Amino acid sequence: MNLEQIPLPSEFLEVFKEEGINYLYPPQEKAIEKIFQGRNLVVAIPTASGKTLIAYMAILRAFTKGLKSVYIVPLRALAMEKYEELRRFEKFGMKVALAMGDYDSPAGYLQHYDVVIATSEKMDSILRHDLDYAYTLGVVVIDEIHLMGEEGRGPTLEMVISKLRTLNEEAQIIALSATIKNSEEIADWLNAEHIYSEFRPVPLKLGVYFDDTLLFSDGEEREIKRDSIGIGNLVKGAIKDGGQVLIFVNRRKSAESLAEKLGRKVERFLNEEEKIQLKNLAERIMGEEYTLYSEKLAKAVMKGVSFHHAGLSNWQRKLIEENFKRHLLKVLVATPTLAAGINLPSRVVIVRDVTRYNGFTSVHIPVMEVKQMLGRAGRPKYDRYGEGIIYARSEPRAMEYMEMYINGEVEDIKSQLSSESALRTHILALIASNMANSEEDILEFFERTFYGYQMPLQYLHKKVERIIEFLEEHEFIRRRRLILPTPLGKRTSDLYIDPYTAIIFKKCYSLPYDEFSILHAISCTPDMVPIYPKRSEMEELFSLAYSHQLALDEFEVDPTIFFGAIKTAAALLDWMNEASQDFIVRKYDIGPGDLHSRVEMADWLLYAFAELGKILKYENYREVEKLRLRMKYGVREELLPIVSIRGVGRVRARRLFDSGYKSIEKLREAKVEDLIKIPGIGKKLAEEILKQVR
Ligand SMILES: Nc1ncnc2c1ncn2[C@@H]1O[C@H](COP(=O)(O)OP(=O)(O)OP(=O)(O)O)[C@@H](O)[C@H]1O
Ligand SMILES: [Mg+2]
Repeated sequence: MNLEQIPLPSEFLEVFKEEGINYLYPPQEKAIEKIFQGRNLVVAIPTASGKTLIAYMAILRAFTKGLKSVYIVPLRALAMEKYEELRRFEKFGMKVALAMGDYDSPAGYLQHYDVVIATSEKMDSILRHDLDYAYTLGVVVIDEIHLMGEEGRGPTLEMVISKLRTLNEEAQIIALSATIKNSEEIADWLNAEHIYSEFRPVPLKLGVYFDDTLLFSDGEEREIKRDSIGIGNLVKGAIKDGGQVLIFVNRRKSAESLAEKLGRKVERFLNEEEKIQLKNLAERIMGEEYTLYSEKLAKAVMKGVSFHHAGLSNWQRKLIEENFKRHLLKVLVATPTLAAGINLPSRVVIVRDVTRYNGFTSVHIPVMEVKQMLGRAGRPKYDRYGEGIIYARSEPRAMEYMEMYINGEVEDIKSQLSSESALRTHILALIASNMANSEEDILEFFERTFYGYQMPLQYLHKKVERIIEFLEEHEFIRRRRLILPTPLGKRTSDLYIDPYTAIIFKKCYSLPYDEFSILHAISCTPDMVPIYPKRSEMEELFSLAYSHQLALDEFEVDPTIFFGAIKTAAALLDWMNEASQDFIVRKYDIGPGDLHSRVEMADWLLYAFAELGKILKYENYREVEKLRLRMKYGVREELLPIVSIRGVGRVRARRLFDSGYKSIEKLREAKVEDLIKIPGIGKKLAEEILKQVR
């Protein structure tokens, strides 16, 4: 089917044509037909088969009818990708918003947008503040709906879908998923058409590599000598052919060391122009703020190879992804944090590790995840074919992987909603937003969830009862004729924190004010991921723990969390006392990305700590508000006025302060000539600063 046949204004379709899309793939055709009949849709088709386009068509159709859409994605990286693509329609008057972070903002402003792209957490928080938002929606897109089966974040996604459906039965649901076994069940749950197909526009050959053999599932065999790295010659072959290679490993350290080793193999295939560009790239990496990874990264990049993991800073990761997309970097060695669903030009994907450490022992990665990784190979925008290869250390292993991952079936998606912690949070949210005000209401709501679809509700009955008791006991709700939220319960839900987090905060409010113990308290909550404590650090962590009065002791929470929280609090305190990023990263043996993600979480939790404190008459809440700002900027209190000037980070703020500019008033009197004497401040920035303070 040609694009012109789609009943949308031709200028909309032109946008896709400019991208090189001229006709629809067969499953797209089937899906789009149903969209224009106004049906709900579950689209379960392979990776890279163009699911996004299907969603865009529903959004555009809604737009022509004056209706709004939301596009729910699991990760920020994906949100960015969709945002950039949808903004191409802004020239037709379509307003597109990217709603991220800040879970405590009113949703009102979103009413002005035609399309809102949000993570499931953000969408959940929007609905907690403002149920009305749901009524205005014509289309709800849910990307990667199979993530509903994920233990950690699945329940939120499931709740968001169920809430939207309860509030607004009219909205058209477009759920996208990679192929899963029970997609038909999900379709039935959503009262949706089930579009299923094995069609993949770019053929993807799957195989295993062991000894000196590359064996594909279609029987093709190639001899490729195994080298000392294992996959060196496999990579070399692909690069020689002009392809790019994406490799998945299970540990950061492996990503780094493999990238280094592969550099030597890849280097010789670079042309002069590429070498110059790569050298520039390496210089850029070294020139920007220095981090633990700068040198390693620069060294690898010079050879056309890079590693990619959550320890890197955001800008480093972005830079690497961009240059891989530009074909400058030939090989990327990544941990699985590299987002599923994103488009990268990798003709060959190698899954080097199909196991990972779960804290106790090494376990096999789910089939779904491995298929997702392999599915990054051969994307229509970039390649005409793709190869997805699993590496095995021996032939029997290889056969096992072939059986399990390549020929095997993907796991069923099962609701994770019945976990105690998920129910605790979400039942409070239902009560706090007045979606349910009795036990019957709550059970009735759960009847509409995927859990309710899959399981008889009597299992849930007892749990719901227990959780209501728990919430009442801790004063989040009051039970009269109806169940109503207390101010504490309402605020806890709006602040998007776990009720258990609020309980820990409450304990902390009664202690004497102490920065360390507050940081420890927020780091013990289920809303923080504490930094992992190493055995060699325990002695020091012990003595830190016993030199403070803490809200929790080591017997109230898991010891790993308790001591991890001590370590996290210490690192955060160093950050707020202006230790350099490099110092912190070395001292605690973490990546800059690890530090930044903790700072971000702590920023949010300190905000919540102060906000709840206001309700509970905590007298030091103003101190905590300052603490939060110090966390955000990584500075001592005296720098707070200066550091909030745009373009002035923590380092420049300190230099300004030490040069005598201790306040905004003092800065107002400064001249450009004075400011540019300070290292790190050029003429442009100096003028910008003066403009702001005046
Ligand atoms: N009909 C088409 N003709 C040509 N290219 C297309 C067509 N439809 C989609 N594409 C391109 O295919 C690429 C992959 O599409 P998309 O990202 O939607 O895949 P997906 O099905 O969501 O895969 P995944 O499961 O990995 O998320 C995109 O670059 C898109 O522009
Ligand atoms: Mg996708």
